[in-house]
Amino acid sequence: MYNITVFPGDGIGVEVAEQAVKIIRKLGEVHHLVFEIKEELLGGASLDKHGVPITPEALKLAQKSDAVFLGAVGGPKWDNVEASKRPEKALLALRKGLEVFANLRPAKMYPELIDNSPLKKEIVSGVDLLIVRELVGGIYFGTPRGIESLDGKGEKAFNSEVYTTFEVERIARKAFELARRRRRKVTSVDKANILESSQLWRKVVTQVHQEFKDITLDHRYVDDCAMQLVRNPKQFDVIVTTNLFGDILSDESAMLTGSIGMLPSASLGNHHALYEPVHGSAPDIAGKDRGNPLASILSAAMMMEYSFNLHELAFSVEKAVEAVLKEGYRTTDIYQEGTNKVSCSKMGDLVAEKVK
Ligand code: IPM
Ligand code: MN
Repeated sequence: MYNITVFPGDGIGVEVAEQAVKIIRKLGEVHHLVFEIKEELLGGASLDKHGVPITPEALKLAQKSDAVFLGAVGGPKWDNVEASKRPEKALLALRKGLEVFANLRPAKMYPELIDNSPLKKEIVSGVDLLIVRELVGGIYFGTPRGIESLDGKGEKAFNSEVYTTFEVERIARKAFELARRRRRKVTSVDKANILESSQLWRKVVTQVHQEFKDITLDHRYVDDCAMQLVRNPKQFDVIVTTNLFGDILSDESAMLTGSIGMLPSASLGNHHALYEPVHGSAPDIAGKDRGNPLASILSAAMMMEYSFNLHELAFSVEKAVEAVLKEGYRTTDIYQEGTNKVSCSKMGDLVAEKVK
C-alpha cells in the first residue's frame, strides 16, 4: 500500500490535481495496487480556512506519507497579504519541511507539439534535457535577509546566497546518478566568475565528479547557459544548478517545448518526495476546466518512477499521454488549428482510458 498526500492548492491546481488523482486511481485498479490518497489544503485555500498557508498538521501528514502531490498555489486574492502568509510560503515550507533538496525538471520536446515552440524546428526537435535544481538552499533560504530602514534615507534590502559543501555534494551526487540513467553528461551552472558561493559550488561539483568518471562534466556560467539553451538546447543532458538559477533556467527550458503546461517535476530528498507541475495556479483560467492536466499527470508518472520504483506504470502513463497527443487532443494552451480542443477533465479521461 502506498500513502499519498495530495495538496490541490489554488487556482487550476485544483482541477489538474484531480486529473492526476484520476490517473493514480486508474493505475491502482489496473495493477491491483492500493494507493491511499488523503487531501489537504495548502496555500491560499489553507489561509482562507485556517489563517496560515500551511498548518503543522498538513506538514505532518505530508511527512508521514510515501509521496506528496501538489497542484499549484497562489492567486491575486492573496497578493496583498503579509509576506509571512503568502501562499508561496507554504510551498517553501513544504519543500524545506520535507528536505527535498533535488528538484528534477525535465524538458522534453513532444514531436506532436513542435509547432508550439517559439523556436525553429531544427533547434528544438529532439530536445530532452533535465534540470536538477537545488531546492532547499541558496538565496531562497539564506540569512541574513531582510529590509531595514536607513533613517530617512530610504531602505536597505538584502538576501544571501549561501551554500555549504554538504549541500553542494548531495545535489551534485544526485545529478551524476541521474545522468547515469540518461546520456551521461552533466553541465554544472554557476556564476563562479563573480560569486564566492559559486566558486565553492564549482569546486565541490568537480570533487564529486571524481566518483563518477563515466560521466562527462562541464561548467558554464549562468548567462552563457541561458544563451546556449536557446541557441542549441540539444547539447544539454543534465543541468545541475542552484535554487535561483534553476528557477529561472527551468522556465526558459519549459518554453523551448512550447508550453509550461506540459512540464512535470519531482523534488527528491533522502526520505521524502514531492511531485508538482512546473506551471503555476493560472488564476485567469481557474475554475473553468481549461487547465492542461498533462504536467500533473506526468508528475504522477514521476511519482511512480521515483518514489515507488514502478517503472512500468510510469512508462504506461507517458505512453498514454503521447497517444492522446498523437490523436490530436489538445487543451487550450497547446491548441492549434486542426487539432481537437478538450477540457482539462476530458483530457484526464482520455489519458485514463489509455493507461495500462
Ligand atoms: C517554482 C515557482 C516557485 C519558486 C515560487 C512560486 C515560490 O516559481 O516552483 O518554480 O520560485 O520556486
Ligand atoms: Mn519558478
